[in-house]
Amino acid sequence: MTPRKSTAHLPQTTDRRIDALLTLLAENATIVISGARIAKEIGVTRQQVWRWIEKLRALGVKVKGHPHTGYHIERFPDILAPQMLSHRLYGTPFARRIHHFFKIDSTNTVAMRMGEQGEPHGTLVLAEEQTAGRGRAGRSWVSERSVGIYCTILLRPPIPPAHAPLLTLVAGLAARDAAAEDLDKSPDIRWPNDLLVGGKKFGGILTEMHAEPDRLHYAVVGIGINVNQSKMPAELAEIATSLKIETSRPHSRFELLVRLLRHFDRYYNRFISDGSQPIVRRFAEVSSYFRGKRVRITTLTEQFTGTTAGLESSGVLRVSRDDGRGTELVLAGDVAEAD
Ligand code: BTN
Repeated sequence: MTPRKSTAHLPQTTDRRIDALLTLLAENATIVISGARIAKEIGVTRQQVWRWIEKLRALGVKVKGHPHTGYHIERFPDILAPQMLSHRLYGTPFARRIHHFFKIDSTNTVAMRMGEQGEPHGTLVLAEEQTAGRGRAGRSWVSERSVGIYCTILLRPPIPPAHAPLLTLVAGLAARDAAAEDLDKSPDIRWPNDLLVGGKKFGGILTEMHAEPDRLHYAVVGIGINVNQSKMPAELAEIATSLKIETSRPHSRFELLVRLLRHFDRYYNRFISDGSQPIVRRFAEVSSYFRGKRVRITTLTEQFTGTTAGLESSGVLRVSRDDGRGTELVLAGDVAEAD
């Protein structure tokens, strides 16, 4: 077991007491609670309650009322509040340690540091906003405040490093199934990790790990989903979308995240108990990229076209090359649809 080191120099997570305030307001959404009662229950001054209410309002939480009459929440806030999430994730490994940030550079970066410091399997890192969200191949991930899901799961899986790509597939399947309930069309997965609807990307996964050749110490699986963006930045509009753009209605990030993590738990347990077969089979059912898709592959060293021919049991993509050089096993690289 990795020794537990102090987490004292990690960035400051959201104050547990703001989280408690949010839970108190959300659980009493139909009544007005006085500032004095809130202050007493949480153990802070009424002035502090007022300051936090202002902070929640700045984040888009509709809190009605003022210090004299009391406060109530107009509708269930779509904040990924740890206490409420933990309650809904009961029975999964994700209910125990949830680190929430209003603003952070990257949940993956924080989770890698937490992995190094001995945080346990199942630790979740969530952010309302990322200032340096990271995508695959050194790209950035646009992470506007409170409209997307920016979530990283820290895992300590009992698998060899060579099987780590399957964690990306597990996350992709979980996110795809969770989002399917919000969409009118069936979402697709472009190997290994792009979530697509109508040919445009609405989510992605970045898996990073700390490993030796034969031993995986920990892996972090970062999931980004565009949920309530009303429009995408101009330079991405041709290739990226959000659930709201696709359906013309807003969606609950909170409910989507709960579903995603519950699906993740199910697929992950299946993978650990039965190996990669059920994951590969499910991928074949839901991904149009599994077999017979004309693709252009770009790796670090070359670019070629071909036709997809299923996955290896390690999650690696098989592509039958157009240039007659046989079947290529694609470990990592960009996959684009070819004409
Ligand atoms: C991709 O498709 O390029 C992967 C995108 C992954 C984005 C998520 S958002 C949460 C986590 N933190 C990051 O910095 N990146 C991942």
